[in-house]
Amino acid sequence: MCGIIGYTGKLQAANVLLEGLCNLEYRGYDSAGIALFTPSGLKTYKAQGRLSQLEAMLGENLPEGQCGIGHTRWATHGAPSDINAHPHASGSVTLVHNGILENYMELKDILLKQGRIFVSQTDTEVIAQWLDEEYQKTREPIKAIRQTLKAMKGAYALGILFADHPGVLYAVRKDSPLIVGLGKGENLIASDITAILTYTRDYLLVEEHEIAVIMPERAEIYSPEGKQVNREPCRADWDIGAAQKGGYAHFMRKEIDEQPHALEATISPRLNNGQIDFSVDHVEDAFLSNFRSIQIVACGTAMHAGMIGKHLIEFLARIPVSVNIASEYRYSNPIVGKDDLVIIVSQSGETADTLAALRLAKSRGARTLAIVNVVGSSIAREAERVLYTYAGPEIAVASTKAYSVQTAMFYLLALRIACLNGKLDTGESSSYIEKIQEIPQIVEASLKTAPLCKKIAADLADAADLFYIGRGLDYCLSMEGSLKLKEISYLHSEAYAAGELKHGTISLITDKVPVIAVAAQSSLLEKMISNMREVKARGGFVVAICQAGYNIPEDAADRVIYLPDLVKDELFAPLAAIVPLQLIAYEIASLRGCDVDKPRNLAKSVTVE
Ligand code: F6R
Repeated sequence: MCGIIGYTGKLQAANVLLEGLCNLEYRGYDSAGIALFTPSGLKTYKAQGRLSQLEAMLGENLPEGQCGIGHTRWATHGAPSDINAHPHASGSVTLVHNGILENYMELKDILLKQGRIFVSQTDTEVIAQWLDEEYQKTREPIKAIRQTLKAMKGAYALGILFADHPGVLYAVRKDSPLIVGLGKGENLIASDITAILTYTRDYLLVEEHEIAVIMPERAEIYSPEGKQVNREPCRADWDIGAAQKGGYAHFMRKEIDEQPHALEATISPRLNNGQIDFSVDHVEDAFLSNFRSIQIVACGTAMHAGMIGKHLIEFLARIPVSVNIASEYRYSNPIVGKDDLVIIVSQSGETADTLAALRLAKSRGARTLAIVNVVGSSIAREAERVLYTYAGPEIAVASTKAYSVQTAMFYLLALRIACLNGKLDTGESSSYIEKIQEIPQIVEASLKTAPLCKKIAADLADAADLFYIGRGLDYCLSMEGSLKLKEISYLHSEAYAAGELKHGTISLITDKVPVIAVAAQSSLLEKMISNMREVKARGGFVVAICQAGYNIPEDAADRVIYLPDLVKDELFAPLAAIVPLQLIAYEIASLRGCDVDKPRNLAKSVTVE
């Protein structure tokens, strides 16, 4: 949901800003813009569309200057256009914004009555005008920012330039991410670390309402009360290679291949002496014991990982678990309190609804545990305990490796909770732990289905609609397979519990509507074969995904993808079966000529509600 970047130092800022925006473009790509102090003053350049439009507009001779800010937009207020593109300027102030100013109409009315004239339809221009109004009173940037914050309601990360303070970046945040990158003789601000990895891995976290003042030689942080605070720098263990395509056509394809490594990195620190041990995460056993219920809260793909989590925890630990869409949970007056554990799942750690749900659960006294990929993100900071997944940066908008590591974390959690709950004895637990250790190899082997998935994608790419069916864990996978397909290929699809199909939806099945049947649970195989036959009988083209060694009759499926024979326990099949689902979605989207990494209308990190 919009990416912001700022640079001050010895390099030509335009280069740094454009490179940073390229790495942030997954956060939104409706328009892009930069503003910098040039030899002839503070200048702004912006254009509707992808970053490439801005680059084309700027041409070979980039504007000179060593300090500036940049923005890539996911439109909220005001259509994508040159005028609505950031940066927005007013008097001495030029700024970029990620977030939503909720009371912008109210503030705009006040400014209009004062005779101010607006050129854009954005909420951001209201901030620029209000800040300029405050700045004209004292010409003290920090004072003016503090005064402006008092008037603002909503979410924001702002990068600000004052025309009469060349070389200095100002920044502030509330509910939207912002970090300060620390270089040598140069410093940066950014929405996330991937934008600045070329320059530094050291960064400062900016807390809610804090104001950062950034110069080439130093970065200062001020409390909301205006007092300078000391902040220990953090160091990112992601390197720049992780945020580059490395020879792949798309980040999504690279990230699918990175799954075995991501899984190994996530699982191994939590295994100690043949036991699951979260002491590296400071998640002590007492925290995972003695609760009435578990509530998993997340959005999209992270919620689908939570669905697998529910199944695993209920199966192994016999504790009731609910899975909740964060945007619904927060408005549903949930029955939650000190006896419940709320598990919040988020790759970015910044999803606005998920963050709000976390805050709600905390305010009701629940224990909160976050499963998060981005270190230091808002959800990671605000949850009582955090289990970090180690997927590295996920750049493609469609989540793949983050889903797998979230799911793996649920295997670890479910087993630990089951042991603490007395539902598993040592022998059973050891046998499961052995299987957990095999997950990376299983996924590696599952990647070998890629050529077959590519062929099958060609059979499916021209369909207008497609169904995914499955039962139990395979239904959870169907949901994720369907989301993956529709978000990147724009091919409409639905996921259905296989047994539910004949309660209405089967009327949609024709010879033009293929069905992907996930059938990786031996206990449910017979039932699934019946469901596949029902589809075939209506002319549907069926692709089955099942375990090695299953006998799928010819009259039940047109194509069969067999998972690696390393899967010895059907409970562990989901991490193998998700791979062909991801690959099929990827290949169909590629065949349909879609922009796989940046699907239309979407953004990676949804920091608006
Ligand atoms: C789909 C996808 C989204 C995210 C959702 C939550 O491929 O990536 O559905 O899973 O927006 O995002 P996080 O996990 O960052 O909270």
